[in-house]
Amino acid sequence: MKAWILDSTDSGVRLDQVPDPRVTSGGAVLRMLAVQVPAYTRVLTTGGRGGIATPTVLGIGGIGRVEAVGDDVQTVRPGEIALSTGFLSTGRVSDPEEVLLGWTGIGGRGISTAATDAMRRVWRTGTFAERASMPASTLVALPGAEHYADLARLAFLPWLTVAGGGVERSGMGPGDRVVVTGASGQLGGATVLLVLSRGAGTVVAVGRNVDSLERLAALDARVRTVRSIGDRAADAAAMTDALGGDADVTIDALGPAPTADLTMAGLDVLRLDGTMVLIGGVRQTLPIPYDELMHRRITLRGSWMASNETAFRIWRQIESGALDLSALDVTTAGLDDPDAVLSRAESTSGLGFVALLP
Ligand SMILES: NC(=O)c1ccc[n+]([C@@H]2O[C@H](COP(=O)([O-])OP(=O)(O)OC[C@H]3O[C@@H](n4cnc5c(N)ncnc54)[C@H](OP(=O)(O)O)[C@@H]3O)[C@@H](O)[C@H]2O)c1
Repeated sequence: MKAWILDSTDSGVRLDQVPDPRVTSGGAVLRMLAVQVPAYTRVLTTGGRGGIATPTVLGIGGIGRVEAVGDDVQTVRPGEIALSTGFLSTGRVSDPEEVLLGWTGIGGRGISTAATDAMRRVWRTGTFAERASMPASTLVALPGAEHYADLARLAFLPWLTVAGGGVERSGMGPGDRVVVTGASGQLGGATVLLVLSRGAGTVVAVGRNVDSLERLAALDARVRTVRSIGDRAADAAAMTDALGGDADVTIDALGPAPTADLTMAGLDVLRLDGTMVLIGGVRQTLPIPYDELMHRRITLRGSWMASNETAFRIWRQIESGALDLSALDVTTAGLDDPDAVLSRAESTSGLGFVALLP
């Protein structure tokens, strides 16, 4: 089969012909149909987003048709359409450890252990390929997806699922006033779509990229946009103006910003008893005064990845039409020219993305 191979973070991605993956106990082989190529994929392949177990078939997430399952696997059935999350847990209840497959990412404190090394050694597999062999626990059957009109759009389901983890952990309810910082990114765009579909009253979408913000504003009259100028007080004031008051929930989906200012502005605008959830890739220390967090009774949560149940709930929303993906601007691409596809992906943001159709 054809696959994108990453030999090391110095080598760049290459297309190669490799043996088809074989089905093993505990796993299933998917024929990949639609896989999002995140905007920051090239940066990731050069080591810019943390360590990655190489050599590997690159790629995380995606929609595929199940071709074969291990003799002990009942999670998915041959012939079904399934989501591959790439999110593997040891499943050990006392002290679970988690990794992403074909990508960067170790959960918890981010430190590799014998268990995370073993998981990434056995499952050295990614989804930027014609086929992928994946552990059954990372697969979610999507009954009804065989009738979904445009599978390329469904390639956004993994990003919506990550956003969904954050939204569910925020406790957001219908009518809530929600701020999304980093809304102009793909994860932020996914978050805006999701909070709208779950009944947010007002959504203040904060970012810098004007095109992305305009596309979000066109989604729904409940969306108001704020263009960040990189000044904490001014950005917070603009958010409060747009909200007409304080926020019930802030979800931070920023990429690796050079300061914590915009994240902190999102915290500044929370009401008493408000909740902030961090789902982005900021690598800064947050300067949070103890007494302020205490007196404002703020809940601050992190959210890394999401459960298979969250992914399934989002699929049900999409299938029923409650979550409309028609606003996504999808560019499709094949496997043949990784470099061109990575460049194309780099130029996308917000509700625009590249879907690989392997
Ligand atoms: N929690 C999880 O489970 C999870 C899962 C996957 C990814 N992530 C993380 O989520 C982050 C966001 O992902 P993404 O796909 O949306 O792409 P991204 O390219 O990493 O982030 C883009 C967003 O960050 C903003 N941004 C970047 N640098 C900035 C700066 N210096 N100042 C202000 N804003 C800045 C961008 O604003 P403009 O475009 O407007 O300039 C855009 O809104 C990633 O960094 C990733 O590590 C988390």
